[in-house]
Amino acid sequence: MSKQENSPAALPDEVVQELDAIAQSATHAIDEAQDASALEAARVLTLGMKGSVTRLFERIPTLDKSLRRAFGQRANALRAQIEAHHAARKSALEREALERELSGPKIDVTLPGRRAALGHRHPVSRTLDDIAAIFLKLGFDIAEGPEVELDDYNFEALNIPADHPARDMQDTFWIAPQSLGADEAALAGKTAILRTHTSPVQIRTMLSQPPPVRIIAPGKVYRCDSDVTHTPMFHQVEGLLVDRGVTFAELKGTLDAFVQALFGSATRTRFRPSYFPFTEPSAEIDISCVHCGGAGCRICKQTGWLEILGAGMVHPNVFRAVNYDPGEVSGFAFGLGVERIAMLRYGVDDLRSFFENDARFLEQF
Ligand code: FA5
Repeated sequence: MSKQENSPAALPDEVVQELDAIAQSATHAIDEAQDASALEAARVLTLGMKGSVTRLFERIPTLDKSLRRAFGQRANALRAQIEAHHAARKSALEREALERELSGPKIDVTLPGRRAALGHRHPVSRTLDDIAAIFLKLGFDIAEGPEVELDDYNFEALNIPADHPARDMQDTFWIAPQSLGADEAALAGKTAILRTHTSPVQIRTMLSQPPPVRIIAPGKVYRCDSDVTHTPMFHQVEGLLVDRGVTFAELKGTLDAFVQALFGSATRTRFRPSYFPFTEPSAEIDISCVHCGGAGCRICKQTGWLEILGAGMVHPNVFRAVNYDPGEVSGFAFGLGVERIAMLRYGVDDLRSFFENDARFLEQF
């Protein structure tokens, strides 16, 4: 075989022109790209799987045998040229971007830092803590109970049987007893609720220890209520004192001391007869209006008094439910609504605003 036969045949002019045109438009597309994503688009159009340069190789098998080698060599050279051009454009664009960044607006490291805004405790939490602190000073301990409670403790043991009308006063959220996490056998025939008051903690505490008892039980409670003085979740503080010979005088003295510590020594209390199934006798306790001192104003609806809590002497049936002997011991209990007290302290007229999470409202306290 002669040397002549081995060298590839010259490509026809029109093929050479076509290859030059493809090279030119690929170079042009790459030069046009002004940023990384435009350059990537140009790469896909030229060197990508279906790109104009890549597709040249698909043509080789369709060419006359004598032209294949020359065409292949040219296509390879063309691809190498475009790849080099793409790489050069890529590093030029990267350099430009870096220069732009470095010559852009500088950070002034001498500027003072921005202080992170510090939050503070919620007005309801503060009120709750202040109330608890007063009772701790008076010698009470803190007891806790679950928010998902058994009907037995929330109602039955508190002398409120299933069909008792007093249940209507506490519109109740009922839930599946499994949420209590106890095993199924223990829950057979039980009904679970979100506790409607903190009074079930009285029962749990007395079941867990013999008298004497002197506890407060602060916590969240739930009722299906919503208006300017009611929310579906709110806080109560329960109080329970049981011992030999406890009388209504101790209840009065304790609540007087509490009210004066919280609202000031000039504050007076008023005990009005009331009814709770778990206390007998029962009372609603009013305080002289913290705004007008008792003269009568918009806050106290011109009465001079504000109702803040319910209380009474523990009912003998409650003692029986926890195996305490009502012939041996006596005691008093009380329950107050924390939000109502926070409203009075901070002059808030819509209880719901405490729970709307509006920072502009909460920052005021
Ligand atoms: C009780 O819940 C009794 N367990 C209190 C008690 C305890 C009496 C021990 C005797 C002995 P009452 O339903 O009145 O009582 O609620 C007590 C306080 O909770 C009310 O005075 C009120 O301040 C507050 N309260 C009641 N419902 C709501 C509500 N939906 N939103 C905000 N506060 C409420």
